[in-house]
Amino acid sequence: AYVVTENCINCKHTNCAVVCPVDAFREGPNFLAIDPVECIDCDACVSECPVEAIYPDDEVPLKWEHYIDLNEQLSEEWSDRIINEMKEPLPEAEFWADKFPKLEELIR
Ligand code: F3S
Repeated sequence: AYVVTENCINCKHTNCAVVCPVDAFREGPNFLAIDPVECIDCDACVSECPVEAIYPDDEVPLKWEHYIDLNEQLSEEWSDRIINEMKEPLPEAEFWADKFPKLEELIR
């Protein structure tokens, strides 16, 4: 499955969710998660993200490996929050695009 990583936090551009053919994205307040059960590994979302937040699970950078479990957990917590349309990015997306680490900013 594909995995949304740290870059997404406080950005949430949502370009990824629009192209997903199986509606695998789930929306939290400032992050999207991919449901690994729904994801069909099609690769459509990766190039859509302006901040390069999405990786296949076997290519997630080491420092962000915990996002594999996190996408699974959050997609369960947010199971009724399917997102498949484009929304405005978060207002401070540009500011947060290169601020790391920012996991503590994640709102569940
Ligand atoms: Fe997040 Fe990138 Fe999608 S910032 S919402 S993974 S387009």
